[in-house]
Amino acid sequence: MNKVKVGVVGLGRLGKVHAQNLRYKIPGAELTAACSIVPAELEYAKNELGVTDVYTDYKEMLAKADIDAVVIVTTSSEHCWQIEAALDAGKHVFSEKPLGVDVAQCKQAEAAVERHPELTFMLGFMRRYDKSYSYAKQKIEEGAIGTPYLVKATGIDPEAFVEGAIRFAKNSGGIFLDMAIHDIDLMRWFLGCEATEVYAMGATFKHPEFKEAGDDETGVAVYKFENGAMGMIHVGRTAPYGYHVETEIVGTEGSIRISAVPEKNQARLYNTNGVCAECVGSFPERFEEAYLIEVQEFVDCVLQGKAPGVSVYDGTKSTAIGYATTEAWRTGKAVKLN
Ligand SMILES: NC(=O)c1ccc[n+]([C@@H]2O[C@H](COP(=O)([O-])OP(=O)(O)OC[C@H]3O[C@@H](n4cnc5c(N)ncnc54)[C@H](O)[C@@H]3O)[C@@H](O)[C@H]2O)c1
Repeated sequence: MNKVKVGVVGLGRLGKVHAQNLRYKIPGAELTAACSIVPAELEYAKNELGVTDVYTDYKEMLAKADIDAVVIVTTSSEHCWQIEAALDAGKHVFSEKPLGVDVAQCKQAEAAVERHPELTFMLGFMRRYDKSYSYAKQKIEEGAIGTPYLVKATGIDPEAFVEGAIRFAKNSGGIFLDMAIHDIDLMRWFLGCEATEVYAMGATFKHPEFKEAGDDETGVAVYKFENGAMGMIHVGRTAPYGYHVETEIVGTEGSIRISAVPEKNQARLYNTNGVCAECVGSFPERFEEAYLIEVQEFVDCVLQGKAPGVSVYDGTKSTAIGYATTEAWRTGKAVKLN
């Protein structure tokens, strides 16, 4: 095989990004089929991507389309059964995060991956493929900061998108499941071990609608890891200045800060407000390159038969930690992880 023929399922907000990359930017991939339950998205596939082999039924795409692999970008509750069906149909699978919406579903996906060691499976924790995050990981492995013992992560969505977050709050599963999953994965990755205990709390100061929906506007969780290291995650939905994603890893001999100022670019605006750096506006903007690199990595893994850097087990573990964090937040008690 010198090209991987791919079918994409889900062409919403992120599906369009992956589909554009597969169609126009990844030479080893050929986007040959698309599936969505939304007719307008299939029109998009035909008109904007030139993909004419389109389906409203995922199983039909698996059975009929000329594809070696699927890229799953559907609603989170659909991921696990779609992963299983694709692997059982002999297709390589890239799935967006989260792996599943509960641990039982994740275990079902794990079993399917284990049934098919001949096929590639990769989960879309794209921050690991962001150049600054992968550089930080490399520096830690080289010993540049000694032994890492603390990860501090901030992830605050822009206030500009708060209306959507309020509408979604009732079904979000709570702020930590909704917003902390990437940081949970990064903590495990940077520290190289597993969390054993979590304590969490939330607060709502600006939009009471979050509390009314049983959620919170902001939250903080602290973690203990099996080697004694610590983690701290601050998530929120109301950054007035833009999309604030920042991570610091502290070690015995130094620290690494990623996006200490979440700036849009290196330009500075000098005017009556002083010297200003505009903030990056949204996740597609901040992680545009990482979305491309991760799917490129998936395609390379399929072509070269190598194992991707993110496994199905990373998906299950992060989901389990997300649930424990949510339990700690809801009960106000520390929760131990197995
Ligand atoms: N890695 C990241 O940073 C990141 C960012 C955003 C979203 N995501 C994940 O990507 C996934 C999609 O998110 P989104 O924001 O694009 O959502 P979205 O609602 O915009 O799009 C989801 C699409 O899935 C399609 N769909 C749903 N069920 C289907 C089914 N059974 N068969 C075929 N198509 C189906 C719908 O057509 C819908 O348009 C989610 O799981 C989300 O968690 C990840």
